[in-house]
Amino acid sequence: MHIPTLVTALTFGPAVLAAQLKQISNYNNNAQAKPGMWVYVPDSVKSDALVVAIHSCQSSAQSYFQNSKIPWHQGSDRKGYVTVWPSSTSQCWDVSSKASLTHNGGGDSNAIANMIKYAITTYNIDPKKVYITGGSSGAMMSNVLAATYPDLITAVSLYSGVPAGCFVSSSGQSAAWNNTCSGGQSISTAQHWGDVVRGMYPSYNGTRPRMQIWHGSVDGTLSPNNYNETIKQWTNVFGVSMTPTSTKPDTPERNYRMDDFGPNVEGIWAVGVGHSVPSHLDASEAWFGL
Ligand SMILES: *[C@@H]1O[C@H](CO)[C@@H](O)[C@H](O)[C@H]1NC(C)=O
Ligand SMILES: *[C@@H]1O[C@H](CO)[C@@H](O)[C@H](O)[C@H]1NC(C)=O
Ligand SMILES: *[C@@H]1O[C@H](CO)[C@@H](O)[C@H](O)[C@H]1NC(C)=O
Repeated sequence: MHIPTLVTALTFGPAVLAAQLKQISNYNNNAQAKPGMWVYVPDSVKSDALVVAIHSCQSSAQSYFQNSKIPWHQGSDRKGYVTVWPSSTSQCWDVSSKASLTHNGGGDSNAIANMIKYAITTYNIDPKKVYITGGSSGAMMSNVLAATYPDLITAVSLYSGVPAGCFVSSSGQSAAWNNTCSGGQSISTAQHWGDVVRGMYPSYNGTRPRMQIWHGSVDGTLSPNNYNETIKQWTNVFGVSMTPTSTKPDTPERNYRMDDFGPNVEGIWAVGVGHSVPSHLDASEAWFGL
């Protein structure tokens, strides 16, 4: 240990070491699905925003939180916002059953919505500053949450997922893998994908979350075709053209391309990047307005 570190630890020890990822055992979850809820409240809360960080398959809230490639813990410390870390009870999130693909259907999406409601009240979150991010299965769930709980979510930044409803299971199985979608063969019209979103909460007519969609061009797990399909889906929901209004090469870094579709949909196509695209804290925070 360096001397300066030691001095810092001695001087500010209790404050510096206080913040930890904590489990909330009772988050008023009335859904049938019972994923775990974990929360990180930084030592110095400087923001009334909430970021929900959703893990990939074969992970958990704790391992995602500790993963050095997942920067939301650092973002929380730096900018002082609270983060919620849902933890699934199956290997991957349930993005395949009717229960999870329906507003208040009782599935994983419903349980995560309950976590958001609990966090809004408990940590004095501004309900207009609720942000969702996730990678892979967590990105699929981010799309599903945007579709099923548009009333709760302000903006989404998702890495390497598939359109909401693309992993649907014809037999209604929960947390099923879908080879047609993962293999890039679930190709449909923008209208169809938009209808899938609207069908998850048919009575809803309010504003929708702003969507930032990242995908790698050589993704071997969730076919790169899913980039286009997801763009089709959300441009249709927002009623805008799926031809970008502007395209910025080498943004936010070399070999990435930022495609803008107006103020509510942004795509980032990462040339030569596989599964998943690493989280880009600055660009995601910028999309959220943090
Ligand atoms: C996989 O998803 C597609 C939609 O993307 C759906 O049409 C198909 O029935 C699903 N396959 C299975 C085996 O459930
Ligand atoms: C939207 O839904 C609300 C509640 O269901 C309803 O009161 C309102 O009239 C609807 N607005 C439009 C424009 O359809
Ligand atoms: C996405 O769709 C556009 C327009 O349909 C097409 O030109 C482009 O090749 C597609 N890109 C991928 C990666 O599928």
